[in-house]
Amino acid sequence: MVWLFVIVGALFFGLILYWQFILAEGAYFGSALVALLYDWTAERYNSIKAFNEAEEDFTLGRPLANRLYTQPEALVLDVATGTGRLAFTLLRQPNYQGRIIGLDRASKMLAVARRDLEAQYPGRVMLVQADAMALPFADNSLPAVTNLEAMEFYPDPKHGLTEMIRVLQPISAHNPDGGWLLTTNRIGWEAKLMPGKTWSRLQLEAILDQFPLRYIDIQIWETIYDLIWAQKIEEEA
Ligand SMILES: C[S@@+](CC[C@H](N)C(=O)[O-])C[C@H]1O[C@@H](n2cnc3c(N)ncnc32)[C@H](O)[C@@H]1O
Repeated sequence: MVWLFVIVGALFFGLILYWQFILAEGAYFGSALVALLYDWTAERYNSIKAFNEAEEDFTLGRPLANRLYTQPEALVLDVATGTGRLAFTLLRQPNYQGRIIGLDRASKMLAVARRDLEAQYPGRVMLVQADAMALPFADNSLPAVTNLEAMEFYPDPKHGLTEMIRVLQPISAHNPDGGWLLTTNRIGWEAKLMPGKTWSRLQLEAILDQFPLRYIDIQIWETIYDLIWAQKIEEEA
């Protein structure tokens, strides 16, 4: 009988570990642990994800380059850049001629990004080790801010969104094109296992409504994410 309790207890403990460290990737234990787990997998990340170039270009690179068509040299900030996925697809677009800042907390993810991006696109990407909870950029300073598959790992996803919107250039009288925000919200069954880190469609819309955003477009992407495009408008003084 005792053995039964031990086995059930061990199984339960194993499930908790699987949930917290594999599915939630350490998100409930803070950014330092999330970054450590990503550092451990940095060299294997690209083969695990097996990005499909055509799909990346169709859903991310081309739509972003097209949205920036009036400012082809726009500086893009990619928050939680990982191994440089967004930079690769955007730099493949012939109508984008700008430079990208890739920011991440995990130094080994950045090292992989630096090695591979410098080999293919020398001088086009700057990589910065920093936390998405406190972006080291001025208010209203960047023409595009992107953030893929990362918000659910932040200590406070809404604060992460606030930070990205803070640094994004608004549409204004002297900048009628404005900047673009591209971010993701996890959906699907795994999202339900990350309470407080992901939002239902209704919650997402209510949260986006709290910010000075316009032209909000939410699309289902890769079946496990909402892909969110939006622009910011200047707030009245
Ligand atoms: C699933 S990966 C996504 C990487 C890349 N955007 C992509 O789509 O391949 C999540 C990334 O978020 C980064 N990250 C998580 N929390 C962070 C934080 N608080 N500040 C900066 N980066 C963070 C991790 O280090 C990791 O590189």
